Amino acid sequence: MIDGSLVAFGNWLQNRSFALDVATSDWAYPFVQATHFTGLSLWVGTTVATDLSLMGIGNQYQTPLQLFNVLFVWNWVGFFIAVLGGFLLFSASAATYLINPAFLTKLGVLIPMALVLHIVIQRRMREWGQQETPRVARIAGLVELLFWISVVTAAVSIPYFA
Ligand code: HEM
Repeated sequence: MIDGSLVAFGNWLQNRSFALDVATSDWAYPFVQATHFTGLSLWVGTTVATDLSLMGIGNQYQTPLQLFNVLFVWNWVGFFIAVLGGFLLFSASAATYLINPAFLTKLGVLIPMALVLHIVIQRRMREWGQQETPRVARIAGLVELLFWISVVTAAVSIPYFA
């Protein structure tokens, strides 16, 4: 029942004119792919930098809080670009993606969990990001890092389940 309505939604989405444009144009699909990857580079890059800093890895010229403050805007700009590109890629073959276990795991399980932890870390940054990061902050940084590695692993596995 849920499967059926997911596929029905996918069929509806992939027949919208913007989705047909992405799927059928010679240049639109690679352009949208590049958009997804550009956003991801910004999002994952700034997130990993902050997590490593929380874990005490790398130079300590600035506290994790100072690094976080510098990267915060770029972090979320990257996220919104990645989601926009990801949504357009998804819309081009939505019904197929909605029965792909790797895609469903990435979008339905791993990204929501990673995102919740990301927001918890950001909200705790004032407290955790000082000179001496508490143990819980180091563990949170490590777990978030592992979550995003899992998201990327699920994403690159999508074609193998197609
Ligand atoms: C923000 C966290 C995200 C990360 C880290 C991520 C990561 C990736 C990566 C690494 C790929 C490349 C797969 C490959 O070509 O080998 C990919 C592709 C893709 N992503 Fe994302 N993504 C994210 C968010 C999203 C969202 C929110 C959507 C959908 C709404 C999405 C939809 C897609 C689709 C449809 C593909 C193409 C899969 C294929 O056919 O190979 N992504 N993603």
